[in-house]
Amino acid sequence: MFIQLFFYLFVFILIPISGFANDYKTALIFGATGQDGAYLIEFLLEKGYTVHGVKRKSSSFNTGRIDRFYEHPAYKNRFFIHYGDLTDSLAVLHLIQKIQPQEIYNLAAQSHVKVSFDLPGYTAQTDALGTLNILEAIRSLNQQNCVKFYQASTSEMYGLVQQIPQTEDTPFYPRSPYAVSKLFSHWITKNYREAYGIFCCSGILFNHESPLRGETFVTRKITRFVAKKFLGSDDVLYLGNLHAKRDWGYAKDYVEAMWLMLQHDQADDYVIATGQTTSVKDFVDLAFQEIGVQVYWEGQGLDEVAKDSSTHQVLVRIDPRYFRPTEVEFLLGDASKANKVLGWKPKTTLKQLVQIMVQNDIELERKVSKSS
Ligand code: NAP
Ligand code: GDD
Repeated sequence: MFIQLFFYLFVFILIPISGFANDYKTALIFGATGQDGAYLIEFLLEKGYTVHGVKRKSSSFNTGRIDRFYEHPAYKNRFFIHYGDLTDSLAVLHLIQKIQPQEIYNLAAQSHVKVSFDLPGYTAQTDALGTLNILEAIRSLNQQNCVKFYQASTSEMYGLVQQIPQTEDTPFYPRSPYAVSKLFSHWITKNYREAYGIFCCSGILFNHESPLRGETFVTRKITRFVAKKFLGSDDVLYLGNLHAKRDWGYAKDYVEAMWLMLQHDQADDYVIATGQTTSVKDFVDLAFQEIGVQVYWEGQGLDEVAKDSSTHQVLVRIDPRYFRPTEVEFLLGDASKANKVLGWKPKTTLKQLVQIMVQNDIELERKVSKSS
């Protein structure tokens, strides 16, 4: 009797609250080589998960963000990488069949909004139908009750915003092939939850950045430039729409929200955001402040420039090549639901984020110039 009681106490109370149960969990991440993939892998490995990541075949190295997990002694035999592509439905099915994960995170996407206007077909194949390939694999393998699925939805779906701030109930108005494709994935995820009872969640994440952010996204483009400037470069930075406003958070904070969604007993969709919005122009100012440079702006439209207030040297100019055929001018998220239901809130302010990114890019630039 006493032994039985101890057994129940151990299995149903001690294991769940100690987090020890995570040792037995296996996660499969599509998009493992991207910014969020790298942070999520680290987060899950730290929690004791076995993590399987999917990488695409590439003619050059594409695992730079995650190589360090292979070498880490604590993660030995708990981190695996497989070739795969979301557009290859059979490969997706075979991966899920082989790995039998308890959690699947779909972070894979052609994630650049501007590029999606040049590659609308490829973007739709990956960002829309790719998600369907995962959901159909779960269904065909009869894994409906064994696996939880996370879909990387996006604030881009709000596009031409219909409400300020944007919540889970705000109507969508996508403004690019990327956003339209993501909207398909958002709804198909909801549909598979309702139609087949699969535990599927979509995180409607607002922009999130980090030192691992791709270099063609505006924040990282700016912080890399500022780092080079700090080390003596004479270049000018060319940007597109300076007046767009974004709700920028830190990617490391945001991957925790993805995981929290899958730990809840009810599958649902959540906005993840900071609740603050800032223009591209103000981001430029903040980044330069980090290296002690005060910026002032002059001119209008295509002639608008940023100058260094002590040297009057031009730092930023406009290049219309970076404009988009249809732009998303304003995003501001309200993450109250995630806060109330999941206990999630952002930990890092924009000022801290800018500091982390600029300092990291200075270190990186120093290493590059030392080795060349
Ligand atoms: P990212 O750095 O661009 O990473 C995207 C990942 O998807 C990369 O690993 C990429 O592989 C992979 N990928 C691209 N096409 C693929 C395909 N056909 N099959 C398999 N993998 C493919 O993006 P992120 O910033 O980490 O964002 C993660 C996800 O969240 C994306 O779905 C993005 O759309 C979404 N999202 C991002 C934000 C944000 O602000 N960062 C906000 C909302 C939603 P390669 O490394 O080989 O290119
Ligand atoms: N990339 C880029 N490059 N954007 C610029 C530039 C430039 O030189 N100059 C101005 N911008 C403006 C864009 O027009 C846009 O309004 C804003 O800066 C942010 O652009 P990105 O950093 O490319 O991000 P995004 O908001 O379009 O998309 C990112 O966030 C989405 C979430 O809302 C991506 O990560 C998407 O995958 C993600 O879904």
